[in-house]
Amino acid sequence: MKYLVEPITKDQISEVAKTHRESYPKDHLSGSLSQKLLEKYYSLFLSNDVVSIACLNQQKNNLLGFLFFGKDLPSKISQFKQKERVELFFYFIFKPKLLLKILLKKLKHSFQHSESFVEASDIILSIAARPDTKGVGTCLMEWAFEYCRHNQIKRLGLYVTCSNLVAINFYIKSGFIITGYIKGQYYMEKQLENKT
Ligand SMILES: CC(C)(COP(=O)(O)OP(=O)(O)OC[C@H]1O[C@@H](n2cnc3c(N)ncnc32)[C@H](O)[C@@H]1OP(=O)(O)O)[C@@H](O)C(=O)NCCC(=O)NCCS
Repeated sequence: MKYLVEPITKDQISEVAKTHRESYPKDHLSGSLSQKLLEKYYSLFLSNDVVSIACLNQQKNNLLGFLFFGKDLPSKISQFKQKERVELFFYFIFKPKLLLKILLKKLKHSFQHSESFVEASDIILSIAARPDTKGVGTCLMEWAFEYCRHNQIKRLGLYVTCSNLVAINFYIKSGFIITGYIKGQYYMEKQLENKT
């Protein structure tokens, strides 16, 4: 096998945050967050109900990508926003252009119609591969599918910004289909057959 997949440890959180910053599109809200905020963000997801995996090279000295998925993610995201509200406030207040962009986007989306859909209980929070790699995203996703099949998880969902065409292409190639739309994001889902 070309790559290794292993659970993420606390020591790898700074590499995870670095990979996120390098790979996420700059018009993505989280793609513009600082290294420090991203480290705090991902540390919160190193818990029992979230599966966090890293893709490593054979020598295990290089983190090439990562994937976080699991249950009850919106409440953990709210927890992060609440806990880091002061730092987030000062981070964005000193970035007026970015703040204006976010506010305009929010305003635009508040006029848009959202399609109702039933969200899966297991959701992908984040996936990223270092830009100088190939096949890392697929390797992580296959691992996640196998995990779901072994753990009787029948549906895996995710949200993706409508302008993130690379990711949408990747998800479609991985078997996800668009089943909903909310505030500038598509909701995509994959049905999995469980192993008996
Ligand atoms: C989305 C992402 C994780 C895919 O990982 P990856 O390692 O590049 O994907 P793979 O190399 O396994 O490619 C699998 C398929 O994805 C699609 N894909 C990957 N990169 C692509 C690109 N630059 N343009 C178009 N399609 C692309 C292709 O269909 C590809 O299949 P192919 O190689 O047979 O053409 C990666 O591009 C990434 O980190 N993006 C930035 C972070 C992000 O946007 N995450 C999703 C947030 S919702």
